Amino acid sequence: MTERRIIGDPAIVQEETLAQKKCGKRIGVVPTMGALHKGHLELIRRAKAECDFVVVTVFVNPVQFAPTEDLQKYPRTPEQDWELLKPMNVDIVFMPTEKEIYLAGYDTYVETGELSKRFEGKTRPAHFRGVATIVLKLMNIASPDAAFFGQKDYQQFCVVRKMAADLNLPVEIVACPTVREPDGLAMSSRNRYLSLEERKQAAAIPQSLKVAQNMRNAGVADAKEMRKNIQAVLETSPLAEIDYIAIADPLTLEEISVIPSMPQNLLSQQRGMRLLVPENPTPRAVVLLAVRFGKTRLIDNCLLY
Ligand code: PAJ
Repeated sequence: MTERRIIGDPAIVQEETLAQKKCGKRIGVVPTMGALHKGHLELIRRAKAECDFVVVTVFVNPVQFAPTEDLQKYPRTPEQDWELLKPMNVDIVFMPTEKEIYLAGYDTYVETGELSKRFEGKTRPAHFRGVATIVLKLMNIASPDAAFFGQKDYQQFCVVRKMAADLNLPVEIVACPTVREPDGLAMSSRNRYLSLEERKQAAAIPQSLKVAQNMRNAGVADAKEMRKNIQAVLETSPLAEIDYIAIADPLTLEEISVIPSMPQNLLSQQRGMRLLVPENPTPRAVVLLAVRFGKTRLIDNCLLY
């Protein structure tokens, strides 16, 4: 895999992106952990459409995995990733080693706040600290004007967006819609761990989100009632073990009992924040869920307008 566009050394990426910026180019960054699928490729497409110079990073970040988690097992498919990336014609594929990112004696981390303690943070307490740390490092390495994230990992998007706002990062954090399989299951590098039967039953996740959206469209505002119906759909899959189902404010991620008819706050209009879907800019709530199928834990979400 020797290609001029693949770079491992952060200093070279930094030098190149700063030079491009000086020439007036708009720099876009798409952070990934590899094992690329169509969801990742969609982020890259969006970055290419909106930016003049695009850096895709492929790095399995050890700092966001707890010692008990699947770091060793996490799929690493650099050759396949490169085959997918080649035709995308991005400007730099940043594929550093662990040692290139975390030099010996590395000891500085971003402490994320309340947003990162809920939901995913409960089962994975140090996860978002690790995500925020690597994302901030990538921003400092590639000086992007815009960074692209998937709505699939909604809480991650919120934590990154909050970090960017709180730390005055001169970067726009853009969320792109979740790319799904034909039966609605959100694409994820973890889907490959599902057995055939688990994979089949996992379709209950998007089905349950659809029910929430239908209820919302029918005017339901009671979060408890909505939660009950989501749970009922998930329980039609005998293999599904529900970790959490939450209906929350789309910006603060605080759980709500009534879905408001007006947006609760206008935080999203702060500098550096892009509303999720321009033509439908004011989500009133987000439904977040995590469900286990055997050893595989899947997360998904949908916005309610
Ligand atoms: P990873 O799981 O590889 O995901 C990289 C990006 O792709 C994230 O922004 C994620 O939300 C997005 N993504 C994943 N599946 C998607 C789908 N089906 N549709 C749309 N977007 C999707 O998330 C991470 O890596 C890491 O935490 C990272 C941000 C790279 C930091 O290490």
